This record gives sequence, C-alpha cells and structure tokens, in this order.
Amino acid sequence: MEEGKIVRPEKQTNEELIFKIHELKRQKNAVILAHYYQVAKIQDIADFVGDSLQLSQRAAETKADIIVFAGVHFMAETAKILSPDKKVLLPDLNAGCSLADSCPPEPFSAFLKAHPGHRVVSYINCSAAIKTMSDVICTSSNARQIVESFPENEKLIFAPDKNLGAYINSVTGKNMILWDGSCHVHNQLSDEKVIQLKISNPDAKLIAHPECRGPVLALADFIGSTAAMLEFTRKDTGKRYIVATEGGIIHQMQKYSPDKEFIVVPADETCSCNDCPFMKMNTLEKLYKCLSDEKPEIVLDDLTITAARLPIQKMLDISKAANLIK
Ligand code: 13P
Ligand code: SF4
Repeated sequence: MEEGKIVRPEKQTNEELIFKIHELKRQKNAVILAHYYQVAKIQDIADFVGDSLQLSQRAAETKADIIVFAGVHFMAETAKILSPDKKVLLPDLNAGCSLADSCPPEPFSAFLKAHPGHRVVSYINCSAAIKTMSDVICTSSNARQIVESFPENEKLIFAPDKNLGAYINSVTGKNMILWDGSCHVHNQLSDEKVIQLKISNPDAKLIAHPECRGPVLALADFIGSTAAMLEFTRKDTGKRYIVATEGGIIHQMQKYSPDKEFIVVPADETCSCNDCPFMKMNTLEKLYKCLSDEKPEIVLDDLTITAARLPIQKMLDISKAANLIK
C-alpha cells in the first residue's frame, strides 16, 4: 500500500503578505495603526506608528472606513469609542493587557464607593467599563498635565497602574489614592538588573517607561512614554542607552539613530519577559486575515461608547491645550 502523504497548505512569504495587505488596504480604504511594541514588520507596514496618546488622536481623526489596530484590546476599544461609525479590527482578540486585567469593573466600582468625594483619573490601559467610571483618562505622555489640571486640593484616585500613579504623585506632590495594578512586563524589570547593566556600561544612559517600579525609575536619566523615549534618544548627544521598557521600541530607535546602541533590560534569565506577549500576538498573517475577513471586530454598545468617550475627549482637549498634540 502506498504511504499516505501529508499535504500542507503553502505558507505565504512575508513579501506576498505585505503586497496583499497593501492591496486590501487600498481597496477597502483601511488604515493600519500600530503601537511601538509591535514586531518590526508590522511597524513597517503600518500607516502610523505611535504611543497610546498619538494613536488615540489618529483614531479620532482618520478618514478611513476601517481601522486595523495593531496593538492590544484596550487600544482598539479606544479607537472604536472615538470613531464609533468606523469598523475597528484587532488581528487577535486575545491580545489583552495584564495591566487592564488587573482592574476588573466590579471591585473597582466597590473601591470608588469606599472613597467618596474623589475624582477619578484612569490610565488609558484599562477596559471601556473602567473608562465609563472615570472623570478623565490619561496616557504615560500626558499623565502629569492631566493630574495637574485638577485644583490643588481636589481628592483624586489614580487607576489602574500603581507605578505610574506613584511616579506622578512624586513629581506633582499630590497624594492620589492608587489602585493596586501593574503591567507584568514593566513590573518585572528589576533595579538589580539595571544596576548590573549600569556598572558594566558606565557610559550608557538609562531611559525608563513610568510603568516601571519606583527603584528602577529612581536610577533613570530619563523617564517618559515610548514616544518621549524615542524622541529623547533622537535628540540626545549620548551614544548608548539602557532601555527599560518593552523591546519593540528599539526598532524605531535604531531606525532614527543607526549610530547609537540600545541595550534592553532583561526581566530574568529564563525568559524574554520584556516582550509583551499580548502585543506580540499580532502577526503579519493575522493582520492579513483580519483585513481580508474584516474580523475580529471590536463591538461596543452605544451606552458604553457615550460614557467612555467623555473622559477620553477630556484627555484629548487637555493635551491639545498643553500642546502635547496638535
Ligand atoms: P505608551 O503610553 O508609551 O504608548 O505605553 C503604552 C503601554 O502599553 C506601555 O506598556
Ligand atoms: Fe499592557 Fe504591559 Fe503589554 Fe503595555 S506592555 S500592553 S501595559 S501588558
């Protein structure tokens, strides 16, 4: 008897996928928005690559019929809230966020009830449900300005990232009550590892995302959002940098400053935990398939969209007034 043959469907090359994605984008009047933590190939095919604040602004202003969000779920949700009439697609619906997941709606609602008389500032890395319970949203690039927009004696709650909240308390002198949440990628970056890297690379500057823990931030030469870190490395006269955030940002840093060296802080010896597993769920194949099938789509009810839009719009208005966005 003849031995059975296994026939596998032919895998498309990256070049074929990239060509087809461009074709589909044109036919469907779609735009691809990508976060800096996406793999290099996705960043390179995107119409716009940015941090959370820049991406929210782009999502609010695009004229495209379809937004493909190469990022994580809360980012695509924000795009849907800002552009409810558009179809918003996320290549993998399981691309969540450990920080957003650390703040479920029910316990958060109970937390708010336990602290009456407080206004609520929520980091954009939270679900639409948390946004509906918030007075204003912030990102890592505008958190300080958003918090400082409140009167000095206003009592504030900051959620869900305790590290970013503590950092903003330290630079503004506020005493915001912090929800006990964190990002598993940034929270694992250790000051011990950073100190070792600083000792072996004394000429390198440490740049850190404010989602890192306080002891790491205390060692940093520069603290800022992904976009701010990128800008810093472009303009700074230094040549070497220890980068305390997710490794995807290195792609743009190398593009803008090919003569500079970037050293990523490893989380521990056993894994590459400074890769966000959620961000890395998006692949070129999934991007192509989602554009072709027009799914998975982000669907939100009208009530949630209306309620969540107010605090996001407030953030965009404050950011415009502070010249953080055009
Ligand atoms: P940015 O505000 O720098 O885009 O950060 C988003 C994020 O998810 C960091 O983990
Ligand atoms: Fe969420 Fe952290 Fe991934 Fe950013 S890096 S998307 S905060 S899990």
